[in-house]
Amino acid sequence: MEAARIDPLTGGRTFRGRAIPFLKWAGGKRQVLPYLLAALPRRFARYHEPFVGGGALFFELHARGFLDAGAVLSDGNLRLVRTWRAVRDAVDELVERLRVHAEGLEAGGADYYYAVRAAIPDEGSDAELGAWLIFLNRTGFNGLYRVNRKGGFNVPFGRYKNPVVCDEPRLRAASAVLRDVDIRHEDFRAVGERAEPGDFVYFDPPYVPLNATSFFTSYTEKGFGPDDQVALRDLARALKRRKVRVMLSNHDTPEVRKLYARGFKLTPIRVGRAINSVGSGRGKVGELVIT
Ligand SMILES: C[S@@+](CC[C@H](N)C(=O)[O-])C[C@H]1O[C@@H](n2cnc3c(N)ncnc32)[C@H](O)[C@@H]1O
Repeated sequence: MEAARIDPLTGGRTFRGRAIPFLKWAGGKRQVLPYLLAALPRRFARYHEPFVGGGALFFELHARGFLDAGAVLSDGNLRLVRTWRAVRDAVDELVERLRVHAEGLEAGGADYYYAVRAAIPDEGSDAELGAWLIFLNRTGFNGLYRVNRKGGFNVPFGRYKNPVVCDEPRLRAASAVLRDVDIRHEDFRAVGERAEPGDFVYFDPPYVPLNATSFFTSYTEKGFGPDDQVALRDLARALKRRKVRVMLSNHDTPEVRKLYARGFKLTPIRVGRAINSVGSGRGKVGELVIT
């Protein structure tokens, strides 16, 4: 396995024909990939990504041949995890169901979107639920995933001109890449029990809010609060002590700098964030890569 320093500046954005994320996910890491690649450990055994979201770094590492020793992807959002499993295990049915959604949208527009949004197929197959989530991700406002405390999905229709509801080649490429990947619905703390010395864990948690009004923590019903941020830091420390390599991302705020002041290396990066629930506050936001 070669070091990560292979053309970090291209960030892999042009890997044609290779698998890339099948979801837009708030906090998606595609634009900061070069910085993450530059901070990777030189070599590692298994890869763990416990806040997988859209999995941008996972797909990139796979494309670069870093994951031969195996990968475990997990997330606290059950619908998201079931969607990943549908891509892995039931891509034919998923594609079929997305075709049906594409036709429905063409015929019914926003009305179709809101009808699908309201009928959450939590009791259906992974493919049915996955098609529901991918459809909303492709057609909802900004590709946001946002739920209320009861788990209801509350993102408005996105009014895209020609959303690609069923990107079959992309789904099939992702499915092939996921064949031997372990996909789990778990709290991030579970990685503490399964990561072994020599493994590598990348944590991309819901970020510390920039200010009280910019809360964006509702990827799950429970949210992610200050106690979770501290528990994550403590877990990163414990893993380090056991010779598990760790890398984390977060906002560059005084709280985050304080949390990781001792025993970690902080590398500031600037990124243009496109996701903000109100739309103001877009622009360059400081982030940290923590190793
Ligand atoms: C910032 S996103 C990850 C973005 C992702 N790395 C990407 O490239 O698209 C954070 C993820 O953490 C998940 N999450 C929130 N709380 C969690 C918890 N307690 N344990 C595990 N995952 C959690 C959310 O469901 C969400 O998918």
